[in-house]
Amino acid sequence: MTPQSTFLRLFSCFTILLLSVACSSDNVADDREELMKGVRHAAKPVGAMLKGEKEFDPDTLQESLTVFAEAADKLGSLVPEGSGGGEASPAIWDDPDGFAAAIKEWQDSITAAIDADPQSLDAAGPVMKLVMGNCKSCHEDYRIEDE
Ligand code: HEC
Repeated sequence: MTPQSTFLRLFSCFTILLLSVACSSDNVADDREELMKGVRHAAKPVGAMLKGEKEFDPDTLQESLTVFAEAADKLGSLVPEGSGGGEASPAIWDDPDGFAAAIKEWQDSITAAIDADPQSLDAAGPVMKLVMGNCKSCHEDYRIEDE
């Protein structure tokens, strides 16, 4: 192998490495955004039911809670170092313990709501307030809204 071809090989490997790092971190940020879009979609009927705009349905509530639970389980794996971007606040990486605690709090409130399995709007109100309150508190600390 000539020195030149060694250099070329190294150079192309390095380029591919850089590209794959760039691409994979983009993908993670995209995955994160997609995950949260799923959460928003699932939150819509919940919000409408809690406001009394839609008839209360315990099954719909549990379905949405399942989506939230899956999202909460995944969120922590979608913030590797260097995957900033989108609406993710740098605070996620400055304060990883705080972010993990915010996820944990959300998970706990979701689990409590799933276990409570509320069958009426009155029963759903208090448990869902905790679940939905976590959207707001986590966004305040760890999301930069760009609208
Ligand atoms: C533990 C933290 C946390 C909780 C809890 C949380 N989110 Fe988020 N959410 C985020 C972060 C971080 C982003 C920014 C993601 C990105 O752009 O990379 C985000 C982004 C979003 C977005 C914007 C997605 C887009 O189109 O870019 C929506 C909508 C959203 N969240 C809805 C919700 C709703 C609804 C809830 C509650 C049911 C919720 N989130 C709970 C952390 C959280």
